[in-house]
Amino acid sequence: MPQPDFSAKIGSVELPNCVLTASGTSGYGAELADYFDLSLLGAVVVKSLTWKPWEGNPPPRIYPLRVGMLNNIGLAGVGIENWKRDYLPALMDSGARVVVSIWGQTVEDFAKTASMISALPSAVVAVEVNLSCPNLGDEHKLFAQSPLETAKVLKACATAERPLWAKLTTQVTDISEVGGAAIDCGAEALSVANTIPAMAVDLSRLGTPLTFKPPVSSAGAVFKGGLSGPAVFPVALRAVYELRKSFPDIGIIGVGGVTSAKEACAFLVAGANAVQVGTATFVDPKAPLKVLKGVYKWYRKNHPDY
Ligand SMILES: Cc1cc2nc3c(=O)[nH]c(=O)nc-3n(C[C@H](O)[C@H](O)[C@H](O)COP(=O)(O)O)c2cc1C
Repeated sequence: MPQPDFSAKIGSVELPNCVLTASGTSGYGAELADYFDLSLLGAVVVKSLTWKPWEGNPPPRIYPLRVGMLNNIGLAGVGIENWKRDYLPALMDSGARVVVSIWGQTVEDFAKTASMISALPSAVVAVEVNLSCPNLGDEHKLFAQSPLETAKVLKACATAERPLWAKLTTQVTDISEVGGAAIDCGAEALSVANTIPAMAVDLSRLGTPLTFKPPVSSAGAVFKGGLSGPAVFPVALRAVYELRKSFPDIGIIGVGGVTSAKEACAFLVAGANAVQVGTATFVDPKAPLKVLKGVYKWYRKNHPDY
């Protein structure tokens, strides 16, 4: 049976379908190629990179939860140059369309990183500008919590000479205000959204008798990180919906808690042009492909001409 035309247009970028991987959840390159043909997806979004290698945070970096997971990876990455040499070739061989995610601690970092993108091959179809990682320490303010800072970063990324997608956080009073600043300064699309700052307390690691004085900061018992997975889905869905009402024509990518076609289709109905699959990939590396197949099925059911 022929596949329906489920091509997705995200700003000026045309993709064969609307299911992508989410940055940081499927490695730097072709890691998922052992599980399925990466060219079947709309695109592969690679882990966020900056102009230099970055160690990220010390372990432990992951905390599993019933409703998803926390991560405190802190944007560990190999840097653009090493990525280009060691990971991009295999990803291109897989036939995948590639979206490179970039980050910086400062606007200057973003500018420097973006200027390295223009030399990348055309398989790199877009740049996702990560303005919203919550795991860089308490003193680090998220760019995406300020329309002004968002605007500065987007302007600094113009030298990438690729379509820019701004990755936002839901942790704002009015996401349309930040989205608008990104669009005004060159973003063709909004990826909505990143993880949400959250915390876990592992009571079993506090020891007995309990001698601490709240708030506890004892090593090992408290895990602070970004929440992802099913718990964030309704929050991201609402943000997508609000952004679509504010910006009828901009590209919008729904990210957060997609584990099946059910969430993916809800994002599409709420106004997204595409979705990304992240945490679900840790449970099942074939999750992005399964979501895609489920979306096709849903589409066929609702468009009987196919
Ligand atoms: C382990 C892990 C690492 C992540 N690393 C990145 C990253 O490097 N850059 C980024 O923009 N988002 C990163 N994210 C956030 C995801 O791309 C996504 O926005 C978020 O997890 C919500 O989607 P999900 O619920 O499908 O995972 C990471 C998430 C996880 C769980």
